[in-house]
Amino acid sequence: MPEQRYALLGWPVKHSVSPQMQEAGFRAIGLDTAYELVEVPPEQLAHKVRELTLRRYRGWNITVPHKQAMLRLVDVVEPAAALAGSINTVVNADGRLVGHSTDGYGLAMALREAFGLMLPKRHFLFWGAGGAARATSVYFAASGARAITLVNRTRERAAALADAIRAAAPACAVTVLEPAETAAIRDRLDDVDALIQATSVGLHAADPIAIPEELLRPGLNVMDMIYRPTRLLERAAELGCRAVDGKSMLLYQGVRSFELWTGAQPPPVAAMRAALDAALAAQARL
Ligand code: ATR
Repeated sequence: MPEQRYALLGWPVKHSVSPQMQEAGFRAIGLDTAYELVEVPPEQLAHKVRELTLRRYRGWNITVPHKQAMLRLVDVVEPAAALAGSINTVVNADGRLVGHSTDGYGLAMALREAFGLMLPKRHFLFWGAGGAARATSVYFAASGARAITLVNRTRERAAALADAIRAAAPACAVTVLEPAETAAIRDRLDDVDALIQATSVGLHAADPIAIPEELLRPGLNVMDMIYRPTRLLERAAELGCRAVDGKSMLLYQGVRSFELWTGAQPPPVAAMRAALDAALAAQARL
């Protein structure tokens, strides 16, 4: 039996590569640790959380569809999780559950690595206003971004997210647009430092391109939060954009969870990245 146990709670979770990534990190710092996939339907989440707490799991990640529900199941909601409106990492401190969100940090690190971009004074356009955009855009605004543009199919959802951004960061200029407002989007894109694809369009190989290609100009920084190749990334690269997938966001959100659990400084990023790359490559061959 390993000394320490961690888990990922989701529904479904079987395709997750977090176990390979996290276990490589634990091995790299010499810990005897298991990271398990725990598939739990929504109505059993509270029960499962009690069980893991009592069984002294040191912590867990939370993914779809439980990230919002987890807010009500912890004792402390850390500031980044309050901004995100969701929890993706729990630390079990002797039965006291502390909820964090590492998604904003993960995306920020990914943008820094891919484009050399830091958040302060920057303008980001998020395409999408669902859970992924919510978990990152409010954090970006609160971290000093100058402007956030939200483009979403459902305007009300983007307007609600804009309200959350304004409440958290009154100095950040927020604009809401719908995908059909092409001219206004193009204007915003002339000013943005990065376009971030945050919808679920592209998760499946047969999906259409998430963003109309006439909006993609040469030199534009494009990040797709999806961590596998997408049609958007393929077209963006062909059209001269700097286009990157969400793999390093996945890496760095996991690295931050690892730091919160272990306190390891510096965290074993290279080992975790190698394991993540290997696990995704193995999946792609299936
Ligand atoms: P979540 O539960 O994480 O928020 P979601 O409801 O699937 O996930 O939506 C994620 C994002 O993808 C939203 O911005 C959603 O747009 P709406 O708010 O208009 O629903 C977007 N999205 C999902 N399917 C889409 C599609 N076929 N076309 C355009 N946007 C889509």
